[in-house]
Amino acid sequence: GQQQLNVCVVGAGYVGLTTGVCLAYLGHQVTCIDKDREKIDMLLAGRAPIYEPGLEDLLRLANARLKFTTSPEACRHADVIILAVGTPPTPNGNADLSFMEAAAAEVAAQLTGERFQVIVNKSTVPVGTAQRVNLIITTAIASRGGSANFAVASNPEFLREGVAIHDTLYPDRIVIGSASNEAINMLRVMYAPILEQTFAAPKVCPRPERFDLPALVTTDVTSAEMIKYAANAFLAMKISFINEIGGLCEKVGADVTEVARGIGLDKRIGPRFLQAGLGWGGSCFGKDTAALIRTAQEYGYDMPIVSATVSVNRRQRLRAIDKLQETLKVVRGRTIGLLGLAFKPDTDDLRDAPALDIIRVLLEMGARVKVYDPVALENFKIQYPNLAVEPCKNASELSQDCDAVIIVTEWEEFRHLPLAELAEKMTGAKVLIDGRNIIDRQDAEKAGLRYVGFGR
Ligand code: UDX
Repeated sequence: GQQQLNVCVVGAGYVGLTTGVCLAYLGHQVTCIDKDREKIDMLLAGRAPIYEPGLEDLLRLANARLKFTTSPEACRHADVIILAVGTPPTPNGNADLSFMEAAAAEVAAQLTGERFQVIVNKSTVPVGTAQRVNLIITTAIASRGGSANFAVASNPEFLREGVAIHDTLYPDRIVIGSASNEAINMLRVMYAPILEQTFAAPKVCPRPERFDLPALVTTDVTSAEMIKYAANAFLAMKISFINEIGGLCEKVGADVTEVARGIGLDKRIGPRFLQAGLGWGGSCFGKDTAALIRTAQEYGYDMPIVSATVSVNRRQRLRAIDKLQETLKVVRGRTIGLLGLAFKPDTDDLRDAPALDIIRVLLEMGARVKVYDPVALENFKIQYPNLAVEPCKNASELSQDCDAVIIVTEWEEFRHLPLAELAEKMTGAKVLIDGRNIIDRQDAEKAGLRYVGFGR
């Protein structure tokens, strides 16, 4: 049988909540702790405070083994305490570790020394943070004359928003970094159901048909911390790379989607994260590449590849504006529609979303801007009340009187746009800028649109 552990998750954000709910589903006793009373109340009522497909269903299924509270007291009896608090970026690119440090201090106050406990860093934190957490806790315990019986581990997550549950239950690998074998063994027990895939797959998130058991990577803490940054920088680099190639494809008359297919079949390269378009956004890639460059600076080390990854991505967003100027000539006074606001489909997350940059530039240029997103519109209205854009209820309402429509997010429904209807409602040059290369050029042209893709 499987061993049931007592787990506390500090921070009920994206990562913490998904991890906590999944671990409870897998059979552990889990307490999610968050300072935000409102968030905890929502969770107690069975509702997820974030939009993540399947999360509420899993919340229901795991209900008997899940607790939600604002008090850190439950950490007293935990085998494993997972720190999953926010590490927002500061203006200079550093991660703000104040939440992390506060959480470590709060947890330290609960550690009794009566049983061995593992403190897990799951937040994406700069290299060296696990050692810092270790120091904070050791010092706190020593200063009250208590006895220490804990170890710190770094256990980065690689989950993507929108498929967070899938990525948690069916990962490619699990990375555990710690100096303590006892800690590594405890986490091996915690993750046993995932490593051995012994759980009954939930209906809302079935096991992929072809799925190899996840690899377990055990290593030192610093390497584990580095793995997280290197993985995200590499993925961001793949996207920037294909976008750079796409720019040249436009010049020479090649199609980047064909090029991506052709190179992606080489197993050494792989087909994923080679979709050219407006580039990457979201809470991770921008923050993590900046943090990596920042850490390198502290050591007087140059990272030209990571730096180029960032600058290519910045340029890529503005390519949408270039394309408007090339086709409309004058942008001032034109009506431009944005299909999609979220940084990617299946989320209402607007962090570092390309749409925000595009909107700002268009408004500065004096365009009239209409926007539609199937999920993120409400979030957008709350967060950006000062952006003078016109929200629309659907793609067809949006297209009314538009000189150009830009597909910014590859929502599934945008793959099946009523192109003829759009063309009918649009005006002037009727330009469709396909920022995600999801529409067939011939289909668009047959419908009467002027099609402009990215890198094709
Ligand atoms: C990412 C990592 O994938 C995940 O492992 C890490 O833990 C957190 O950061 P996420 O930010 O949720 O996850 O989204 P992801 O699906 O990776 O997409 C990131 C961005 O890249 C999106 O804006 C997406 O539109 C863009 N993208 C992705 C491309 O432009 N082209 C691609 O081929 C793939």
